[in-house]
Amino acid sequence: MTTVTKEAGAPVPADAGAFLSVRDLHVSFKTEDGVVKAVDGLSFDLERGRTLGIVGESGSGKSVTNLTILGLHNPQFTTVEGEILLEGQELTTARESQLERLRGNKVAMIFQDPLTALSPYYTVGRQIAEPFMKHTGASKKAAWARAVEMLGKVGIPNPKERASDYPHQFSGGMRQRAMIAMALVCDPDLLIADEPTTALDVTVQAQILDLLKDLQQEFGSAIIFITHDLGVIADMADDIMVMYAGGAVERGTTAEVLRSPQHPYTWGLLNSMPRLDSDLSAPLAPIPGTPPSLLNPPSGCRFHPRCTFQDRVDGNRCVTERPLLAPDRASACHLTAEQKHTIFVEEIRPRLG
Ligand SMILES: Nc1ncnc2c1ncn2[C@@H]1O[C@H](COP(=O)(O)OP(=O)(O)OP(=O)(O)O)[C@@H](O)[C@H]1O
Ligand SMILES: [Mg+2]
Repeated sequence: MTTVTKEAGAPVPADAGAFLSVRDLHVSFKTEDGVVKAVDGLSFDLERGRTLGIVGESGSGKSVTNLTILGLHNPQFTTVEGEILLEGQELTTARESQLERLRGNKVAMIFQDPLTALSPYYTVGRQIAEPFMKHTGASKKAAWARAVEMLGKVGIPNPKERASDYPHQFSGGMRQRAMIAMALVCDPDLLIADEPTTALDVTVQAQILDLLKDLQQEFGSAIIFITHDLGVIADMADDIMVMYAGGAVERGTTAEVLRSPQHPYTWGLLNSMPRLDSDLSAPLAPIPGTPPSLLNPPSGCRFHPRCTFQDRVDGNRCVTERPLLAPDRASACHLTAEQKHTIFVEEIRPRLG
């Protein structure tokens, strides 16, 4: 492991433990219908300089997990339990003033919906310049120049003029890019990108992905990348975490998870997602059934009602016992390692092509 320094920051000792460490995180929301358990016992680590790709169906808790890292939930309706340690600093119990210092500076997020991040009342340039001024102490003029530079970097034409526009004068794709500029302006140590390029055309998407890679190269930033696009994951992520119903069901290096996935849900997911290298006319097979209710999640393995392999597990374990994803285990499933391997090689891989 190497020692990474950020500009004027102190060196980070190589043995300081994980840069980001999430332990047994539970996030639930009080709603009129009951308590929604959106994240339910999630643990993972992320090191500097690495990119973690998070995949999972809609509603599996990807965004909630990351909004919780930033402390962006309304405490009146939200219960957060477990630990989120960023360089050893506990975030779940941090004060709002501490979180405000982190946000936009040390930790930044590219949101799924740009309108949640951009204010309609201020010019785009000002919204990029302000966090830069606040966190670096730069002058107004220098911060404006930096905002223009960032808009150029994310591919906005005529950035000098466009910096004075309001968000509504930008197209959807341009707003997305402006938000990315806002997230990157302070060279964050941890960048959380939630479906950052979904709305963009492929050329701009490639530019943005290159920009994120540059950021990482230059500052050793850690990146959490949420996407439905396996091609992007394969290109960007060092590691993959697959989420289902608020928990991680599989984790490993990108090569491991894409080449020899071990969890029945991951098999279904791979089968249901378009692949860059696949024949576009090949039909995609959606996973049968629907994601479970988070008000009243299934007993045992959350995936068991949709799993076609539970009869191969002894007894009724899939229904009665929740398999956990231990740090030394790549997938949370009661099938034995040998069964997983054989099923994948003989029954799943031939279908994936
Ligand atoms: N503020 C909230 N109040 C109540 N329920 C919520 C709240 N925010 C999220 N949820 C619920 O938590 C679950 C997880 O939501 P989340 O947004 O994390 O899903 P996701 O994995 O990001 O999905 P997608 O791929 O569609 O973005 C969903 O069932 C969602 O409806
Ligand atoms: Mg989401």
